[in-house]
Amino acid sequence: MAELRWTWVDDVDTSWREALARAFDPAALVPVAGLRPRGIAGRSCGLLAAPPSVPFGVFVKTFAHGSLHARVRHRRGASGAAVEFDNAVRLHQMGLPMPRPLALADECGLWGCAKSHYLMEHIAGAKPLGECLAAAGLPGSPAFDALALAAARLLVDLAAKGVWHRDVNGGNVLVAPDNAGRLRRLYVVDARHVEFGRLPGAPALEQMLTALAGSLLADGVSDRRVLALASAVPDAAAEHGGGSMRLVSPETTLLLGRRLAAHLVAREVRKGKRPAEALDVFSRRYAGPGDAANYRDRRFARSRYGRKVEAAERRIVEGMLPGLRLRGPVLDAPCGTGRFLPIFAAFSREIVAADTSAEMLALARQESVPAGWPIAYVMADVRRLPVEDGRFELAFAMRLLHRVRGREERLDVLKELARVSRRWVLFSFYDRRSWRGLRDRLRGRYAGETPEVIEAEVARAGMRVERFHPVGWRGRQTLVLCSKSDVPPQGPPREG
Ligand SMILES: C[S@@+](CC[C@H](N)C(=O)[O-])C[C@H]1O[C@@H](n2cnc3c(N)ncnc32)[C@H](O)[C@@H]1O
Repeated sequence: MAELRWTWVDDVDTSWREALARAFDPAALVPVAGLRPRGIAGRSCGLLAAPPSVPFGVFVKTFAHGSLHARVRHRRGASGAAVEFDNAVRLHQMGLPMPRPLALADECGLWGCAKSHYLMEHIAGAKPLGECLAAAGLPGSPAFDALALAAARLLVDLAAKGVWHRDVNGGNVLVAPDNAGRLRRLYVVDARHVEFGRLPGAPALEQMLTALAGSLLADGVSDRRVLALASAVPDAAAEHGGGSMRLVSPETTLLLGRRLAAHLVAREVRKGKRPAEALDVFSRRYAGPGDAANYRDRRFARSRYGRKVEAAERRIVEGMLPGLRLRGPVLDAPCGTGRFLPIFAAFSREIVAADTSAEMLALARQESVPAGWPIAYVMADVRRLPVEDGRFELAFAMRLLHRVRGREERLDVLKELARVSRRWVLFSFYDRRSWRGLRDRLRGRYAGETPEVIEAEVARAGMRVERFHPVGWRGRQTLVLCSKSDVPPQGPPREG
């Protein structure tokens, strides 16, 4: 084995140093139960069978310095291992709740340091905050509220001491429960991306809270839980004497968190860390250069049938709008190149056009509606819209759900549309009983869904189908007008 060079934290007892150095063997670390195979942030991790004189277990995080460049960086004290170790020591000295850092052991050879092992106290039984928040009772229950307040206090404590942990997330905050499963203490780990004194208290707190909210939402923790967590922060700040800190509202934190969550999920899908859903694959079709112009210029224009369908879709939407008696904002998501924006602009004074493709949005902005019209263009994923509940009077999603075969994925979109609308939702799907659906079935292709299946899903999303409107006789693309179930029925609106 290469020689080990030890850098000990000052307050580590000499007898522990000797015992740990004797016991340490990087090849004989015990795997940590419940940890992903790639460990934490891609670093391998293991447990050291701590010598009896050391009163706690020892957790080891190993950083490999593969390239010559990485070794030079490490020598200069700028490698991930060195930065994380230095930051952890500093945070621990500041009295912040970190697992106690013990030492950095560098494996040195002729060509510099190949690996660094960061030794720290092992917090036995600790679980990630994200997991604990999802499993604690509902917001309002003592278990949940205690956990949310503890997490809020941790963030406030960091911010009040001038610390901005840029990578606070549901996995980097650990919860140590006692034997009865009650909350004991929270710890923050992964100190690599920590800044000291860079942001003043309130902005640092907001950044960390948004980062935590985004990661929790991306991992499927519900809006309600995240909102409850964000609502605990002002109380924690007041306890800390920071009552005058000006913080954004919990609702705004939720919106910012949603935006971040969409970005985090898209990044994980891109990196292959999360399975791609149908809409991830679909959105890539419109993300490349030229895809948007191609959609605008060729998608419908290249055949007589295409032109007919395009005109019919617009006619149907135009015909439905007067009957909806819109008095509030409209969401067009995905807006694509803005085919429907001029129609909405004639009926509503406020329109939000959302799409995941920057190119599609750019074309929509350029061409659909004259400058000065009341349209906001937002890059957003229809599965996680960064807007508050009931923001729109109509949420419109044309030519999106026909690409989604999975019921759960379709339901997620329907629920999101239902969430952001206070009255109407209009979307389209492929009817498998159409002529083209029949043809696809004969060819063994995905043919769409039956109206009954769609109706059941609409009901699960908390809405009611007012009517189906196929594009053309027995047309495949079919529009569905839905109303929120909690809105008193007005009767199916007539075409204008
Ligand atoms: C076939 S186009 C339809 C656009 C427009 N609704 C229309 O009918 O012309 C599909 C659009 O969906 C967008 N898209 C795909 N997945 C999305 C998602 N998850 N969230 C928002 N937009 C998405 C694409 O970028 C593309 O602009």
